[in-house]
Amino acid sequence: MSESRKRMTIPDLQAMKARGEKIAVLTAYDFPFARIMDQAGIDMVLVGDSAGSVVAGYETTLPVTMEEMLYHTRAVTRAVQQALVVADMPFLSYQVDLSEARRNAGLLIKEGGAQAVKLEGGVHVVETIRAIVAMDVPVVGHVGLTPQSIHRMGGYRVQGREEAQAAQLREDARAVAEAGACAIVLEGIPAALAAEITAELAIPTIGIGAGVGCDGQVLVIHDILGLCEKYSPKFVKRYADISATIRSGVDDYIREVKDGTFPGSEHSF
Ligand code: KIV
Repeated sequence: MSESRKRMTIPDLQAMKARGEKIAVLTAYDFPFARIMDQAGIDMVLVGDSAGSVVAGYETTLPVTMEEMLYHTRAVTRAVQQALVVADMPFLSYQVDLSEARRNAGLLIKEGGAQAVKLEGGVHVVETIRAIVAMDVPVVGHVGLTPQSIHRMGGYRVQGREEAQAAQLREDARAVAEAGACAIVLEGIPAALAAEITAELAIPTIGIGAGVGCDGQVLVIHDILGLCEKYSPKFVKRYADISATIRSGVDDYIREVKDGTFPGSEHSF
């Protein structure tokens, strides 16, 4: 990371798309992870409601609350100095009515310190996107495999394989962009469809399980570092195995406590 790197903004994202520069995005939920990835030069940090699965151990993202998202968002924004921070709106924080949606989006900015919010859905959420954008809160859309719709989808399945579904996804992405979203996440859709949507939309697309044709890529940090044992989707690439590193450190600690090697005189007063 260069010391002089300036803070990423929403217009910077747009400029990156215009010059064909790929946008690198990772999720973060706490101070140390956010600090490390910011120092490494990540463009955008997403405080995802995937926190529910990878940090809190829930089966789905549905139980995640506004309080939890605010807690994670504050921890991340205290650490990040240069990347753009986007906070997820959790299930039930934007679906009930527009005024609740606006208040909750505003809280993620005002109390969380994020620069933008993300919400899931296509044509059905355009009014909500418009209402939030009208408060000058930038919105990132999210279509395709939307984890908050797990029960409708019947599982975490690739979306848009059949032509009717693909047509609906094109319409969803177009509607989100026309409603004023500043970027859109395309999750779990065929690479060719994602590339087509990316070429059509003026706003940047950020793919996850959507192939290389998107303007940027996002992955869950716990997945790429080998911290999730339960489930590893095909689109995840593991860049490190910190579970093994943690395990080895903890094993050594337990052994040294049990055999009296720790604390040594250098750790004692
Ligand atoms: O919650 C999340 O982490 C997300 C990304 C996987 C796109 O929405």
